[in-house]
Amino acid sequence: MSEASLPFNDKFYPSAEKIGSGDKRKQVWEESLKNPQEFWAEKAKAIDWFKPAPKVLDDSNPPFYKWFAGAELNVSYNTLDRHVKGAKKNKLAYIWEGEMGEVRTYTYYQLYREVNRLAKVFQDLGVKKGDRVAVYLPVIPELPITLLATARIGGVHAVVFSGFSAEALADRVNDSGAKILVTADGSFRRGKPVAIKDNADRALKIATTVEKVIVVKRTGQAIQMQEGRDVWYDQALAKAGSSAYVEPEPMQASDPLFILYTSGTTGKPKGVQHGTGGYLVWAYWTLKWAFNPTDEDIYWCVADIGWITGHTYNVYAPLSLGITAFLFEGTPDYPAQDRWWDMIERHGINILYGTPTAVRMFMKFGEQWPNKHNLSSLRILGTVGEPINPEAWKWYYTVIGKEKLAIIDTWWQTETGGFMIAPLSGIELTPQKPGSATFPLPAVNADIYDDKGQPVPTGTKGFLVVKSPWPGMLTTLWKDPERFKQTYFGRWPNIYYTGDYAVRDNEGYFWLLGRADEVLKVAGHRIGTVELESALVSHPAISEAAVMGKEDVVKGEVPVAFVVLRSGFQPSEDLRKELVKHIRTTIGPIATPDAIVIVNKLPKTRSGKIMRRILKAVLVGAPIGDVSTLEDDASVEDIKNTYEEMRKQLHK
Ligand code: WT7
Repeated sequence: MSEASLPFNDKFYPSAEKIGSGDKRKQVWEESLKNPQEFWAEKAKAIDWFKPAPKVLDDSNPPFYKWFAGAELNVSYNTLDRHVKGAKKNKLAYIWEGEMGEVRTYTYYQLYREVNRLAKVFQDLGVKKGDRVAVYLPVIPELPITLLATARIGGVHAVVFSGFSAEALADRVNDSGAKILVTADGSFRRGKPVAIKDNADRALKIATTVEKVIVVKRTGQAIQMQEGRDVWYDQALAKAGSSAYVEPEPMQASDPLFILYTSGTTGKPKGVQHGTGGYLVWAYWTLKWAFNPTDEDIYWCVADIGWITGHTYNVYAPLSLGITAFLFEGTPDYPAQDRWWDMIERHGINILYGTPTAVRMFMKFGEQWPNKHNLSSLRILGTVGEPINPEAWKWYYTVIGKEKLAIIDTWWQTETGGFMIAPLSGIELTPQKPGSATFPLPAVNADIYDDKGQPVPTGTKGFLVVKSPWPGMLTTLWKDPERFKQTYFGRWPNIYYTGDYAVRDNEGYFWLLGRADEVLKVAGHRIGTVELESALVSHPAISEAAVMGKEDVVKGEVPVAFVVLRSGFQPSEDLRKELVKHIRTTIGPIATPDAIVIVNKLPKTRSGKIMRRILKAVLVGAPIGDVSTLEDDASVEDIKNTYEEMRKQLHK
């Protein structure tokens, strides 16, 4: 999104919400920063602790902050047992709808029983506290069940999005050192079965730490079961018995709950590690503050549990709050382009937490699709994953929200554990500005710096940073504390670097302006350009590759790859197709480049650095500009020629 086009002064007053001046929100925010110890000691009471925290924050070894240091709890206890013991025993925890329209429901009690049975299976297979459980499942109820069962016995889950390739799965499983993998035979996509277990089998040829594989039967397609290694989920549960009970393992608040891999600026994905106590408190309060779900609400967060949004807002936050969450396996436009609206009407969904890419896609399909349905159950809307452009925001607000509903635009990251900047309907909602995530949450000491680490003036773009620790923050990177320090706190000591650009308007609203680093957001998915480049150069035909993001009306941005062939290879349509296939098998379909541009040379400085500014100019169709002033003393003629060649290739 370009800064110049932001409607800083466009304001909306969703009529279904009470709109305030912002004083109350500001007061809570100031209180949380002035006195974090007291503030969080009070908030922590929402969670059941086996042993309360002697100290709210141990900051003796920054940036390795320990929230609720010394406290003990179990996340599965907080999301299940305490509801089952209370009034919510028979309340629905999940309503799940599969791709083919089948519906399954789980009360808190049913979920509790199944989680216990799977926890028993894990125990019988020898999974112990601290062991990693890798998970490669589509969005079926067994996915949250697996996470909760892992948490129950003190295991650490490492979920890999089921759209990732065998190779990507292998890397992540290997890095996590998982002992167990939970997967499925397949999943459904547009009504057709897609292989999952096949990928898992290929991955496990490389990832050798896995001893046992638990396989959920989802599609019934033919698969190989490896004797001695693979067990069917149903059979394992049957063996565990129908009334298995496993004592929830008391965990230190700082013990890891999960690892989730995400892309950064190097080829190797980062194993973001989240703790137990701080993370849970953050999950609970952020959902309550932002969406304020009630006991009567049916809440739907559309994210796949393979990503952080699904972890926090499809599992830990809704279940710790004891609300009813809706889960959907699949495709938004199958069997028809009104799938979402149809489900919202049929299930009476009250809260819809979606994405800008989905909104833009529905915009393209046309408003006749939502207009076929009664959407009056909706009372609040949300969005996440990438900046929402004002046009998409207005469509969402008008066509779906009927100009009544607030849009909770939540800015956050895998690393932050939960929302960081968002309108807070549970504290005080201020007038909405389309495209602005509004203000930081309590405890979020956000600021915008220039490249020297000085706060920028109002209206000036800079780097978004967070100046104090908050409970949901990542605790480290898995097996790589040095990289954790470097990546997030290396730029300015004790200041968390987000990697995003932002600007603040004259009313203090925050506007997120996209990534400041070599990370793309493709349909909201986070993809490192370096990851794509390494995947490309691992193909025998490619000697060099440079990947950049190009603006896209639906997906926000899409990757475009510029590649140089090794001698002996000729550019051809077949080769391009093969390269696309290669990306799909080394990373996954989400990373599919929009175009592969084969060139003779990449624009580089004498020291061999790719000049990304030139690539950007090629992509946006801008003139190359004055290259003579480039500080890198590359040959001007050379760069001009390369630019011209690339431009012709891309726009031919
Ligand atoms: C990056 C984090 C956090 C949930 C899903 C993505 C971008 C996320 C917004 C938003 C503008 C956003 C940022 C951020 N982003 N939400 N509401 N407005 N940008 O998690 O994959 O870790 O990606 O997504 O660039 O750094 P993630």
